[in-house]
Parts: sequence; C-alpha cells; structure tokens
Amino acid sequence: MLQTNEIYNMDCMEGVRLLDDKSIDLVVMDPPYLLDLQKIKNTTSINNYANELLDLKDGFDLKILDLLIPKMKKINMYIYCSKRQIKQLLEYFMNKGCNYELLTWHKQNPSPLTNNNYLPDTEYIVFAREKGVKLYGNYYTKRKYYISGVNQVDKKKYKHPTIKPLAFIENHIVNSSKEGDLVLDCYCGSGTTLVAALKNNRNYIGFEINKEYYEIAKKRIEDTKAEMEGIVEEDSK
Ligand SMILES: C[S@@+](CC[C@H](N)C(=O)[O-])C[C@H]1O[C@@H](n2cnc3c(N)ncnc32)[C@H](O)[C@@H]1O
Repeated sequence: MLQTNEIYNMDCMEGVRLLDDKSIDLVVMDPPYLLDLQKIKNTTSINNYANELLDLKDGFDLKILDLLIPKMKKINMYIYCSKRQIKQLLEYFMNKGCNYELLTWHKQNPSPLTNNNYLPDTEYIVFAREKGVKLYGNYYTKRKYYISGVNQVDKKKYKHPTIKPLAFIENHIVNSSKEGDLVLDCYCGSGTTLVAALKNNRNYIGFEINKEYYEIAKKRIEDTKAEMEGIVEEDSK
C-alpha cells in the first residue's frame, strides 16, 4: 500500500503494481528516451553531452502502460518521448480507442549536432485520453507547442541532465486535472512533476530508480513546501 504525496526510490515496474486500482487521475511521465547515441557521438564535438545521457538512453518498457491502465480512473497521460518512440505510443493508444495529440517542445538552444542532420531542437509529448476525459484550461494554456530554451540554471541546480521545464508540466496538470486529483510520475528524475502537482494543489506519487536523483527530488519537494509555507505566512500578515 503506497501513500500519496510521496516519492519512492524504486523501479516503477514494481511500484505501479502497489498502487490501488482506479486511483490515479493523471499520469505525466518522462521516461528514458530511446536514443541513437552512436549517431550523437559521431556528429558532435561535445562528447560530454552523449556521455551524460548514457544511463538514460535505452528507452522504456511499454509494459508499464499495461500496468498503469488499471490503476487509472480513465486513461489520461502525457508521455515525453523521442521521435523513435512516437509510432509505438500512438499505435498503443489508438488501439485503446483513445483521443490523442502530439505536443512539441521547440528548444531555442539545442545542442550543436550538425553534419547531415536537422538540429535536435524538438522534443515530443504524446497526450492520450480516453473518451469522456475532460480537458480544462483556456485559450492561453491549450497551445500544442511550447517554445523555450533548456533551463541551464535548473539543470545545474538539480543536477539532472534531462530536467524538463516546470512551466510545461504545470500546464499539462492544469489542463488535465482538478485540484485534489492524484498525479503520478513513474520516472521522476529531479521531481519536476511532483513539484508542479504540489504547486497546483494536486496530490502526487512518484517513482525514481536512481538513489541520487531520488534524494534530489525529495529535497526539491521539501524546499518547495517551505517556500509555499513562507508565501502563505507572508500573505496572512
Ligand atoms: C528523462 S528522466 C526524467 C526527468 C524529469 N522529468 C525531470 O524533469 O527531472 C528519466 C528518469 O527515469 C529514471 N528511471 C529509469 N528507469 C526507471 C524505472 N524503471 N523506474 C523508475 N525510474 C526510472 C531515471 O533514473 C531518470 O532519472
């Protein structure tokens, strides 16, 4: 039995099995991308970039989706992915009769991989929802594209090579859940989804397999709570 508003240092393939059936309102997850690292190494002079992605390169097991679906009230998921994962994800959700969108993040400061390729300046987010799942938000929150640079400050501060912009995740959460809903992230990294849920009065559960990233996420959540409590005290003066 797992508690809400916790992050667990465990493999999500085990963690998800421990969740109550039909307990999750929204999944926002950013699993390891399936990357062609050799190609990256061959086309960049910045080998550190390829090296820092080494432990994140192998993609993820689609079986996690089969495990997740019974745990959700209805399918309602945002999944960050690489170009190579889009086809199988879309096929998976089409076979389930879901509505879907392909959202994009256009990076203003992509890594300088050049040669015979377009720049790696676009990342993809598959959004899938079962029929009947509501999309909230408004004209300003419902764009299908995001434009920003990689936030180097957060990347350094939280020491995660693939940290996602907090504003994007807050946007998914506001569009696809209500206050008090339960948001799950199976691949927390530095805890961006959990912080976004906390800031928007949603409950959360997260899994992160790497002990170091787990500790970083835990501290980030505690710092966010302290910051929010400070704001509440400030307002009530
Ligand atoms: C792309 S990163 C997530 C980054 C995160 N969105 C952020 O903003 O910091 C994927 C994370 O999944 C973790 N991971 C990989 N396999 C996992 C598994 N089976 N269970 C739980 N976490 C896993 C990795 O350690 C990595 O931190």
